[in-house]
Amino acid sequence: MNSLPSDLQALLRQYGQTHLIQFWDDLNSEERANLAAQLIALDFALVESVTRSLNAPDSSNAGSEAVQAARIAAAKAPAKVVRQPQSTKDLAARSAAAEIGEAELRSGKVAVVTVAGGQGTRLGFDAPKGMFPIGPVSQRTLFQIFAEQIQSRRQQASAEIPWFIMTSDATHSETKRFFEDQNYFGMVPESVVLFQQGSLPAFDASTGQILLNSRSEIALSPDGHGGLIAALQKAGLLERMKNAGIEHVFYHQVDNPTVIIADPVLIGFHTQQKSQLTTNVVCKTSPTEKMGVLVDVNGRTEIIEYSELTPEQAAQTDESGQWIFWAGNTAIHVFDRAFLENLAHEGGQLPLHFARKNVPFVSSEGQMVSPEDASNPNAIKMERFIFDALPMAQSTLIVEGNRAREFNPVKNKSGADSADTARAALVRIGREWLAESGHVIPDHMAVEISPLQALTAAELRKKIGSGELQVSDLISS
Ligand code: UTP
Repeated sequence: MNSLPSDLQALLRQYGQTHLIQFWDDLNSEERANLAAQLIALDFALVESVTRSLNAPDSSNAGSEAVQAARIAAAKAPAKVVRQPQSTKDLAARSAAAEIGEAELRSGKVAVVTVAGGQGTRLGFDAPKGMFPIGPVSQRTLFQIFAEQIQSRRQQASAEIPWFIMTSDATHSETKRFFEDQNYFGMVPESVVLFQQGSLPAFDASTGQILLNSRSEIALSPDGHGGLIAALQKAGLLERMKNAGIEHVFYHQVDNPTVIIADPVLIGFHTQQKSQLTTNVVCKTSPTEKMGVLVDVNGRTEIIEYSELTPEQAAQTDESGQWIFWAGNTAIHVFDRAFLENLAHEGGQLPLHFARKNVPFVSSEGQMVSPEDASNPNAIKMERFIFDALPMAQSTLIVEGNRAREFNPVKNKSGADSADTARAALVRIGREWLAESGHVIPDHMAVEISPLQALTAAELRKKIGSGELQVSDLISS
């Protein structure tokens, strides 16, 4: 392509974005074609809304602050909630839910979605996060742990449990190659579907101009886990799920190796209570812990981000003395498939969230600039969050999970929520399960139980009891 279509040039002029083609004359034909494709895909309505919000007078901020304060004042601890079991009655209710969930799995009504399109900047691993070796003994990757869980569940249910993995421009080709190299971990390749989410441009925070990542490339980044609904729809996967008889979509993030994938308890409560969107939560360890919390606001379920609360607000209690903001989001959800379809029909786009971040860019002189002033980031990046679907649901349910067992994410390079804490959790869980089978493992020995060997302590006990599994295969000095 030698010249850009004139209507596209006119749009760039109209929206003040002609700098994007300032290096056009220096580009070769392949670079021109790539840039033209990116420009054609640009959402100019979005460009206009970003520019408008940058130029908005402070009074509108004051308005939104008032709305926000009212929202926090109206927030209550979630009313429709299943707490961790405290009594035999609660335990019986969980067992009953598990039986319902298992029946749904056996009927082939469950699909799994793993969102794996994030850039994982905090971890600083130079490949997609799902390829991170997390197994404390085996160095199994996160993807392998999930694959093994799904294989075991499929086997136990004697049914298909299709696995959909959302990737992004940042992670797609490497993830695809990895699954091919690993022979899809022994799964039928057609039962594992990789699909790509969309991307959004980064804007200069002071001028509203879209940033260039090179002379021929717009600075784009994945559109957030909330890009899921539009991405599923675009790839025809909601239709495919419907045709396959899927009713429940189990959603989880790529960073938590101890998630119980396709958890029969969560699916069971979700089915029993006819919920459109069920969320697993855990009790925050302290009011100021950095976790989004689920609350009821005027009859709807919402998430309030930790950054939206002052320490005083975060510590507020209700008349029973319970924290209002206790229910920490683990990002483990069960969606009703028809609910996802409704959202998709309504456009499938959840609201955009803006964040100031440092983004490297090419200056008008053609130089690469890498801003590092954390106190004044140069760019505005946008993302959509999946939990914004919560207030759109007619019926939601919150189920409290067992934090130590189910929620050990790998977010950071070190410290809290790091590979070290997640590996320690895998070892601890393995030890606990072996102890339940009557085998106490010395402290210096690492333990790791493959989901192919057992998904629960009871299963492990049975296999060890019958001689099918040897304890020596599960530990390493
Ligand atoms: P995080 O919010 O932890 O973001 O994603 P991240 O990109 O993985 O890590 P940081 O913030 O850069 O360190 C939570 C989950 O949502 C997925 C991630 O892959 C992870 O499973 N995600 C995030 C997407 O699939 N797409 C996105 O655009 C963003």
